[in-house]
Amino acid sequence: MDVHDPRPPEGSGLIVRDLAVSYGPVAALRGVSLEVPRGSIVTVLGGNGAGKSTLLRAVSGTLGFHRGGVTAGEVRFDGARLSGTAASSVVAAGVVQVPEGRRVFARMTVEENLRAGALGARDRRAAAESRDRVLTLFPVLAERARQRAGLLSGGEQQMLAIGRALMARPRMLLLDEPTLGLAPMMAARIAETVREINGQGTTVLLVEQNAAMALSLASHAYVLEVGEVVLSGPAGELAASDEVRRRYLGVEDDGDDGNGGGGDGGPAARTSGGARRDLSASPRPVLARWSA
Ligand SMILES: Nc1ncnc2c1ncn2[C@@H]1O[C@H](COP(=O)(O)OP(=O)(O)OP(=O)(O)O)[C@@H](O)[C@H]1O
Ligand SMILES: [Mg+2]
Repeated sequence: MDVHDPRPPEGSGLIVRDLAVSYGPVAALRGVSLEVPRGSIVTVLGGNGAGKSTLLRAVSGTLGFHRGGVTAGEVRFDGARLSGTAASSVVAAGVVQVPEGRRVFARMTVEENLRAGALGARDRRAAAESRDRVLTLFPVLAERARQRAGLLSGGEQQMLAIGRALMARPRMLLLDEPTLGLAPMMAARIAETVREINGQGTTVLLVEQNAAMALSLASHAYVLEVGEVVLSGPAGELAASDEVRRRYLGVEDDGDDGNGGGGDGGPAARTSGGARRDLSASPRPVLARWSA
Protein backbone atom coordinates (compact mmCIF):
# COMPACT_ATOMS: atom_id res chain seq x y z
CA MET A 1 0.00 0.00 0.00
CA ASP A 2 1.24 3.45 -0.83
CA VAL A 3 0.42 4.54 2.72
CA HIS A 4 3.75 3.03 3.69
CA ASP A 5 5.66 4.78 0.95
CA PRO A 6 7.54 7.57 2.71
CA ARG A 7 7.54 9.61 -0.49
CA PRO A 8 4.02 10.08 -1.80
CA PRO A 9 3.64 11.07 -5.42
CA GLU A 10 4.25 14.71 -6.25
CA GLY A 11 1.26 16.93 -5.56
CA SER A 12 -0.73 14.39 -3.55
CA GLY A 13 -2.30 15.50 -0.34
CA LEU A 14 -3.30 19.02 0.60
CA ILE A 15 -1.50 22.10 -0.64
CA VAL A 16 -2.37 25.58 0.58
CA ARG A 17 -0.61 28.43 -1.20
CA ASP A 18 -0.47 32.10 -0.22
CA LEU A 19 -3.93 31.96 1.25
CA ALA A 20 -5.61 35.14 2.42
CA VAL A 21 -9.01 35.16 4.09
CA SER A 22 -11.19 38.03 5.29
CA TYR A 23 -14.42 38.32 7.19
CA GLY A 24 -15.73 41.52 5.66
CA PRO A 25 -13.13 44.13 6.52
CA VAL A 26 -11.35 41.83 8.99
CA ALA A 27 -8.29 40.10 7.55
CA ALA A 28 -7.98 36.74 9.31
CA LEU A 29 -5.26 35.00 7.27
CA ARG A 30 -2.42 36.44 5.21
CA GLY A 31 -0.03 34.60 2.92
CA VAL A 32 -0.55 31.21 4.55
CA SER A 33 1.14 28.31 2.79
CA LEU A 34 1.30 24.76 4.02
CA GLU A 35 1.38 21.18 2.84
CA VAL A 36 -0.10 17.98 4.20
CA PRO A 37 1.37 15.07 2.26
CA ARG A 38 -0.91 12.13 1.68
CA GLY A 39 -0.86 9.71 4.60
CA SER A 40 0.61 12.16 7.09
CA ILE A 41 -0.59 14.00 10.19
CA VAL A 42 0.25 17.68 10.11
CA THR A 43 -0.65 20.08 12.88
CA VAL A 44 -1.34 23.79 12.97
CA LEU A 45 -0.74 25.34 16.37
CA GLY A 46 -1.76 28.74 17.58
CA GLY A 47 -3.53 30.60 20.34
CA ASN A 48 -7.03 32.04 20.42
CA GLY A 49 -7.86 34.02 17.32
CA ALA A 50 -4.72 32.98 15.45
CA GLY A 51 -6.80 31.84 12.48
CA LYS A 52 -6.79 28.06 12.90
CA SER A 53 -10.51 27.54 12.40
CA THR A 54 -10.47 30.03 9.56
CA LEU A 55 -7.83 27.94 7.81
CA LEU A 56 -9.92 24.78 8.14
CA ARG A 57 -13.03 26.63 6.93
CA ALA A 58 -11.11 27.83 3.89
CA VAL A 59 -10.14 24.24 3.10
CA SER A 60 -13.61 22.81 3.68
CA GLY A 61 -15.36 25.55 1.72
CA THR A 62 -17.44 26.64 4.71
CA LEU A 63 -16.18 30.22 5.06
CA GLY A 64 -19.35 31.50 3.46
CA PHE A 65 -21.39 30.18 6.37
CA HIS A 66 -19.37 32.53 8.58
CA ARG A 67 -19.56 35.51 6.23
CA GLY A 68 -15.94 35.07 5.26
CA GLY A 69 -14.18 34.50 1.97
CA VAL A 70 -10.86 33.69 0.34
CA THR A 71 -9.33 36.86 -1.07
CA ALA A 72 -6.10 35.40 -2.44
CA GLY A 73 -4.25 32.14 -2.90
CA GLU A 74 -5.54 28.64 -3.42
CA VAL A 75 -6.18 25.25 -1.88
CA ARG A 76 -5.55 22.02 -3.79
CA PHE A 77 -6.15 18.42 -2.82
CA ASP A 78 -4.58 15.59 -4.76
CA GLY A 79 -4.00 18.03 -7.57
CA ALA A 80 -7.58 19.30 -7.82
CA ARG A 81 -8.46 22.85 -6.89
CA LEU A 82 -10.74 23.05 -3.85
CA SER A 83 -10.81 26.80 -3.38
CA GLY A 84 -13.81 28.32 -5.07
CA THR A 85 -15.81 25.07 -4.94
CA ALA A 86 -18.84 24.39 -2.78
CA ALA A 87 -18.54 22.68 0.60
CA SER A 88 -20.34 19.65 -0.80
CA SER A 89 -17.76 19.32 -3.58
CA VAL A 90 -14.98 19.39 -1.01
CA VAL A 91 -16.64 16.50 0.84
CA ALA A 92 -17.08 14.71 -2.48
CA ALA A 93 -13.36 15.19 -3.10
CA GLY A 94 -12.74 13.28 0.14
CA VAL A 95 -11.98 16.09 2.58
CA VAL A 96 -14.20 16.20 5.67
CA GLN A 97 -14.07 18.62 8.57
CA VAL A 98 -14.88 17.93 12.21
CA PRO A 99 -15.78 21.43 13.35
CA GLU A 100 -14.77 23.13 16.54
CA GLY A 101 -16.98 22.44 19.54
CA ARG A 102 -18.10 18.96 18.39
CA ARG A 103 -21.37 19.96 16.79
CA VAL A 104 -23.34 16.76 17.14
CA PHE A 105 -27.10 16.78 16.66
CA ALA A 106 -27.96 16.79 20.35
CA ARG A 107 -31.58 15.70 20.04
CA MET A 108 -30.85 12.89 17.64
CA THR A 109 -29.58 9.51 18.78
CA VAL A 110 -26.01 8.40 18.33
CA GLU A 111 -27.15 6.06 15.59
CA GLU A 112 -29.00 8.84 13.77
CA ASN A 113 -25.97 11.11 14.00
CA LEU A 114 -23.83 8.45 12.35
CA ARG A 115 -26.43 7.88 9.67
CA ALA A 116 -26.47 11.61 8.96
CA GLY A 117 -22.75 11.41 8.28
CA ALA A 118 -23.35 8.77 5.62
CA LEU A 119 -26.04 10.69 3.75
CA GLY A 120 -23.77 11.17 0.79
CA ALA A 121 -22.86 7.47 0.61
CA ARG A 122 -23.94 5.87 -2.63
CA ASP A 123 -24.52 2.32 -1.52
CA ARG A 124 -25.76 0.77 1.66
CA ARG A 125 -23.00 -1.74 1.96
CA ALA A 126 -20.38 0.98 2.04
CA ALA A 127 -22.37 2.79 4.73
CA ALA A 128 -22.66 -0.39 6.81
CA GLU A 129 -18.94 -0.99 6.48
CA SER A 130 -18.18 2.54 7.60
CA ARG A 131 -20.52 2.14 10.53
CA ASP A 132 -18.77 -1.06 11.59
CA ARG A 133 -15.44 0.64 11.33
CA VAL A 134 -16.59 3.58 13.44
CA LEU A 135 -18.11 1.34 16.11
CA THR A 136 -14.92 -0.73 16.26
CA LEU A 137 -12.94 2.44 16.70
CA PHE A 138 -15.36 3.79 19.33
CA PRO A 139 -17.10 0.86 21.08
CA VAL A 140 -18.82 3.28 23.44
CA LEU A 141 -20.86 4.58 20.51
CA ALA A 142 -22.24 1.09 19.98
CA GLU A 143 -23.23 0.90 23.64
CA ARG A 144 -24.96 4.28 23.41
CA ALA A 145 -26.44 3.80 19.94
CA ARG A 146 -29.98 4.64 20.98
CA GLN A 147 -29.15 7.40 23.39
CA ARG A 148 -29.58 11.05 22.52
CA ALA A 149 -26.25 12.53 21.52
CA GLY A 150 -26.77 15.48 23.86
CA LEU A 151 -26.57 13.13 26.84
CA LEU A 152 -23.07 11.91 25.99
CA SER A 153 -20.03 13.23 27.84
CA GLY A 154 -17.85 15.80 26.09
CA GLY A 155 -15.32 13.16 25.11
CA GLU A 156 -18.00 10.83 23.80
CA GLN A 157 -19.49 13.66 21.77
CA GLN A 158 -16.08 14.29 20.26
CA MET A 159 -15.88 10.61 19.36
CA LEU A 160 -19.29 10.85 17.77
CA ALA A 161 -18.30 13.96 15.83
CA ILE A 162 -15.21 12.18 14.50
CA GLY A 163 -17.23 9.02 13.88
CA ARG A 164 -19.83 10.94 11.93
CA ALA A 165 -17.10 12.46 9.77
CA LEU A 166 -15.64 9.01 9.13
CA MET A 167 -19.01 7.81 7.84
CA ALA A 168 -18.32 9.87 4.71
CA ARG A 169 -15.19 7.73 4.14
CA PRO A 170 -12.85 10.69 3.92
CA ARG A 171 -9.40 10.54 2.43
CA MET A 172 -8.54 13.49 4.60
CA LEU A 173 -9.86 14.64 7.98
CA LEU A 174 -9.73 18.22 9.20
CA LEU A 175 -9.86 18.23 13.00
CA ASP A 176 -10.51 21.47 14.87
CA GLU A 177 -9.24 21.25 18.46
CA PRO A 178 -10.61 17.78 19.15
CA THR A 179 -9.30 17.67 22.72
CA LEU A 180 -10.45 21.11 23.81
CA GLY A 181 -12.04 21.02 27.25
CA LEU A 182 -11.49 17.29 27.75
CA ALA A 183 -9.91 15.68 30.80
CA PRO A 184 -6.33 14.53 30.12
CA MET A 185 -7.25 10.85 29.94
CA MET A 186 -10.00 11.47 27.44
CA ALA A 187 -7.74 13.78 25.44
CA ALA A 188 -5.16 11.01 25.32
CA ARG A 189 -7.76 8.56 24.04
CA ILE A 190 -8.82 10.93 21.31
CA ALA A 191 -5.18 11.42 20.35
CA GLU A 192 -4.67 7.67 20.18
CA THR A 193 -7.71 7.34 17.95
CA VAL A 194 -6.42 10.03 15.62
CA ARG A 195 -3.22 8.02 15.31
CA GLU A 196 -5.23 4.91 14.56
CA ILE A 197 -7.38 6.61 11.92
CA ASN A 198 -4.23 7.90 10.28
CA GLY A 199 -2.71 4.42 10.47
CA GLN A 200 -5.66 3.18 8.44
CA GLY A 201 -4.67 5.54 5.66
CA THR A 202 -6.53 8.80 6.32
CA THR A 203 -4.51 11.98 6.00
CA VAL A 204 -5.03 14.36 8.93
CA LEU A 205 -4.79 18.12 9.36
CA LEU A 206 -5.03 18.71 13.10
CA VAL A 207 -5.58 22.17 14.51
CA GLU A 208 -4.72 22.45 18.20
CA GLN A 209 -3.88 24.65 21.11
CA ASN A 210 -2.64 21.55 22.90
CA ALA A 211 0.81 21.74 21.37
CA ALA A 212 2.39 18.88 23.31
CA MET A 213 -0.27 16.41 22.21
CA ALA A 214 -0.34 17.65 18.63
CA LEU A 215 3.44 17.59 18.24
CA SER A 216 3.55 14.03 19.53
CA LEU A 217 1.13 12.94 16.79
CA ALA A 218 2.23 15.01 13.83
CA SER A 219 5.18 14.68 11.51
CA HIS A 220 5.22 18.38 10.68
CA ALA A 221 3.86 21.45 12.38
CA TYR A 222 3.07 25.05 11.58
CA VAL A 223 2.59 27.82 14.11
CA LEU A 224 0.03 30.50 13.27
CA GLU A 225 0.07 33.89 14.94
CA VAL A 226 -2.39 36.61 14.05
CA GLY A 227 -3.17 35.05 10.69
CA GLU A 228 0.36 34.28 9.57
CA VAL A 229 2.66 31.26 9.71
CA VAL A 230 5.52 32.31 11.97
CA LEU A 231 7.26 28.96 12.35
CA SER A 232 7.18 25.61 10.63
CA GLY A 233 9.19 22.46 10.58
CA PRO A 234 9.36 18.81 11.56
CA ALA A 235 7.26 18.29 14.70
CA GLY A 236 10.20 16.86 16.62
CA GLU A 237 12.26 19.91 15.81
CA LEU A 238 9.52 22.27 16.96
CA ALA A 239 9.02 20.26 20.13
CA ALA A 240 12.72 20.62 20.86
CA SER A 241 12.85 24.32 20.06
CA ASP A 242 13.38 26.50 23.11
CA GLU A 243 10.95 29.13 21.93
CA VAL A 244 8.17 26.68 21.15
CA ARG A 245 8.74 24.96 24.48
CA ARG A 246 8.43 28.22 26.35
CA ARG A 247 5.59 29.74 24.42
CA TYR A 248 3.47 26.75 23.55
CA LEU A 249 4.45 23.89 25.82
CA GLY A 250 4.68 25.83 29.05
CA VAL A 251 8.13 24.42 29.72
CA GLU A 252 10.49 26.54 31.79
CA ASP A 253 14.11 25.93 30.89
CA ASP A 254 16.26 25.95 33.99
CA GLY A 255 19.97 25.52 33.68
CA ASP A 256 21.97 23.94 30.90
CA ASP A 257 20.67 24.80 27.51
CA GLY A 258 21.65 22.86 24.47
CA ASN A 259 20.22 24.89 21.67
CA GLY A 260 22.60 27.82 21.58
CA GLY A 261 20.33 30.14 19.54
CA GLY A 262 20.80 29.73 15.81
CA GLY A 263 24.09 30.82 14.29
CA ASP A 264 24.74 34.54 14.28
CA GLY A 265 22.19 35.26 16.95
CA GLY A 266 24.58 37.06 19.27
CA PRO A 267 24.18 36.75 23.03
CA ALA A 268 21.48 34.40 24.21
CA ALA A 269 18.33 35.81 25.73
CA ARG A 270 19.16 34.27 29.09
CA THR A 271 20.20 36.78 31.68
CA SER A 272 22.72 36.02 34.38
CA GLY A 273 19.97 36.20 36.96
CA GLY A 274 18.38 32.93 35.86
CA ALA A 275 15.31 31.99 33.90
CA ARG A 276 13.99 35.47 33.22
CA ARG A 277 13.13 35.80 29.58
CA ASP A 278 12.14 38.52 27.23
CA LEU A 279 10.56 36.77 24.29
CA SER A 280 10.30 39.85 22.15
CA ALA A 281 14.05 40.33 22.42
CA SER A 282 15.08 36.74 21.81
CA PRO A 283 15.82 35.81 18.21
CA ARG A 284 13.51 33.29 16.60
CA PRO A 285 15.15 29.90 16.37
CA VAL A 286 16.01 28.98 12.84
CA LEU A 287 14.14 25.82 12.04
CA ALA A 288 14.46 23.82 8.89
CA ARG A 289 11.64 24.88 6.61
CA TRP A 290 9.74 21.91 5.43
CA SER A 291 9.13 22.93 1.87
CA ALA A 292 12.63 23.89 0.80
N1 LIG B 1 -17.42 34.92 11.56
C1 LIG B 1 -16.46 35.82 11.81
N2 LIG B 1 -16.65 37.14 11.55
C2 LIG B 1 -15.68 38.04 11.79
N3 LIG B 1 -14.46 37.75 12.27
C3 LIG B 1 -14.21 36.46 12.56
C4 LIG B 1 -15.20 35.44 12.35
N4 LIG B 1 -14.66 34.25 12.71
C5 LIG B 1 -13.41 34.54 13.13
N5 LIG B 1 -13.13 35.84 13.04
C6 LIG B 1 -11.86 36.52 13.37
O1 LIG B 1 -10.83 35.93 12.61
C7 LIG B 1 -9.66 35.74 13.40
C8 LIG B 1 -9.30 34.26 13.42
O2 LIG B 1 -10.32 33.55 14.11
P1 LIG B 1 -10.34 31.96 14.20
O3 LIG B 1 -11.65 31.58 14.78
O4 LIG B 1 -9.96 31.40 12.89
O5 LIG B 1 -9.16 31.70 15.24
P2 LIG B 1 -8.76 30.35 15.98
O6 LIG B 1 -7.27 30.23 15.85
O7 LIG B 1 -9.57 29.24 15.51
O8 LIG B 1 -9.09 30.70 17.50
P3 LIG B 1 -9.64 29.74 18.69
O9 LIG B 1 -8.47 28.99 19.21
O10 LIG B 1 -10.18 30.70 19.68
O11 LIG B 1 -10.69 28.84 18.11
C9 LIG B 1 -9.99 36.32 14.76
O12 LIG B 1 -9.52 37.63 14.78
C10 LIG B 1 -11.49 36.28 14.82
O13 LIG B 1 -11.99 37.30 15.64
MG1 LIG C 1 -10.87 27.98 16.38
